[in-house]
Amino acid sequence: MKISKQEFARRRNNLMGQMEADSIAIVPSARELTRNRDTDYPFRQDSDFYYLTGFAEADAVLVLMPGRKKHGQYVLFCRDRDPAMELWNGYRAGPEGACDDYGADDAFPVSDIDDILPGLLEGRERVYYAMGRNPAFDQKVMQWVNVIRSKVRSGAHPPGEFLDLDHLLHDLRLYKSAAEIRVMRKAGKISAAAHIRAMQTCKAGWYEYQLEAEILHEFGRNGARFPAYSSIVGSGKNACILHYIENSGQLKKGELVLIDAGCELEHYAADITRTFPVSGTFSKEQKALYEVVLKSQLAAIKKIKPGNHWNQAHDATVKVITEGLVALGLLKGKVSTLIKKEAYKDFYMHRAGHWLGMDVHDVGDYKVDDEWRVLEEGMVLTVEPGIYVAPDNKKVAKKWRGIGIRIEDDVLVTRTGNEVLSGDAPKKINEIEALMRAGAA
Ligand code: GLY
Ligand code: MN
Ligand code: MN
Repeated sequence: MKISKQEFARRRNNLMGQMEADSIAIVPSARELTRNRDTDYPFRQDSDFYYLTGFAEADAVLVLMPGRKKHGQYVLFCRDRDPAMELWNGYRAGPEGACDDYGADDAFPVSDIDDILPGLLEGRERVYYAMGRNPAFDQKVMQWVNVIRSKVRSGAHPPGEFLDLDHLLHDLRLYKSAAEIRVMRKAGKISAAAHIRAMQTCKAGWYEYQLEAEILHEFGRNGARFPAYSSIVGSGKNACILHYIENSGQLKKGELVLIDAGCELEHYAADITRTFPVSGTFSKEQKALYEVVLKSQLAAIKKIKPGNHWNQAHDATVKVITEGLVALGLLKGKVSTLIKKEAYKDFYMHRAGHWLGMDVHDVGDYKVDDEWRVLEEGMVLTVEPGIYVAPDNKKVAKKWRGIGIRIEDDVLVTRTGNEVLSGDAPKKINEIEALMRAGAA
């Protein structure tokens, strides 16, 4: 299931093939972050860095120099081997492993980077670098450039141009390969299994974090140790807080619970939301709003195919949700006027989705030349409409207040249409109720 060495090499070659002549690209790894004394947050490699290297250690720097003949185009700086440090903190590949196991043409201890990098920059006209993301590293890059500038009188040739690496690299990341799709399909399956587990184990009286534990358990036992983002488990009116991650409330009979959770597998994210009744049966009002959200989501998924543009799915959700809110009496007026006035935003205040990949909110432009991007085979996006009736919304009848519903799937654009990667998680009312009955039995 892992991405192969050949694929990492292909990615580097694709990027280098698009870089200007006489250029160099510099990509730092992610840094370790302290959680509290002597304890770090779990390390997660930077997605750009991992995409090009498959190298998951901190304190590393990737340098690509297209066309460099003698010592090769791909140089990796990484932590040196150190038996004492490795005894405490785990295995390091070291420069030798960087070449042998990760395909680097040349590798050096990162502790030597200040001495070596200016030499690599020298004579290169253009530097591709994502300026502004890591201020400490920005300063280092400028220091290395300044070392060469200080030597111009002895004939040194500093780079004259800085170019944004993101533009090239993120466009590559937007189109998923067959291997990436296989990983994302598996991430979708594991995450769907976790949602099913949550539906089947859910009990009134439990706390939201107990459902979260069921989700994480299912991720881990299937090989996905970490979630792709903090899981949202919001019951009752907590479901109306879009990024609720406290997960500390108690599940009450008669309320819905919204779970937005997806695993990370091999550095790829799944992102699924399901909303279901704590007791296993939807009330009349919950059912009515749920059907509107589901209808809007299905209408949006239909719009996901090559040739359609990014915003068509969103527009479809707005139309169905506005019509539904009018039909149920939560909005009053003419549908077209309400859409124009964005009246639906009191209930549906976010967009219908985002790109999905190594980052849950993945990279890639949504507009090209000021026009919505046209969908193409290999792109993956979420479709996640919702209706959230604020608990204090006095403009609607009391029976609707505090209901929050979102349904989110991960959708791959295929040659002829789309494939829902998260489709194993049931979302029809009768399927959810049947599953929960089976779980309770
Ligand atoms: N889980 C974050 C989102 O759905 O965008
Ligand atoms: Mn989500
Ligand atoms: Mn999402």
